[in-house]
Amino acid sequence: MISEKMEKAFNEQINKELYSEYLYLAMKSFFTELNLQGFVNWFDVQVQEEHAHAMGMYDYVHERGGKVELLTIDKPVVEGKTPLEVFEQTLKHEEFVTSRINLLMDVAEEVKDRAALSFLDWYLKEQVEEEANVGGILATLKLIGDDKKALLMLDKDLAARVFNPPVIG
Ligand code: FEO
Repeated sequence: MISEKMEKAFNEQINKELYSEYLYLAMKSFFTELNLQGFVNWFDVQVQEEHAHAMGMYDYVHERGGKVELLTIDKPVVEGKTPLEVFEQTLKHEEFVTSRINLLMDVAEEVKDRAALSFLDWYLKEQVEEEANVGGILATLKLIGDDKKALLMLDKDLAARVFNPPVIG
């Protein structure tokens, strides 16, 4: 059985993952307006990943006999005006999510929930990957600068990304 404190922390994180899905959906729309279809695809995969992250926790709370409470999802705001700025925001957001996963692990340690700790390990590794991924694209965008041809080449690369449903936990 899951503790009340752990259950609350998971429910808050489900909300953050769903917010991430929502934020990336807004960013997908930003790139759709720019007609950068590779970026659109990259964010589409991101949207699906975030949904899977939320559902992984949703299923886990049920599995542990807890109650899922769906909280209000904030309105997402795309702060950037250029692909570079949008990726700066994306990296900042992923760093925030990493800090949230760390927070959940702190709660799991506090209530001595080893099952939750082991479950959250997957999310921690995923965050390392996410930050590296986004950081890599951000570095490329910095190199590209105002070079439109190079931006279109990156767009082509991002078109190749495919969603592989993750096996969580
Ligand atoms: Fe679910 Fe991108 O963190």
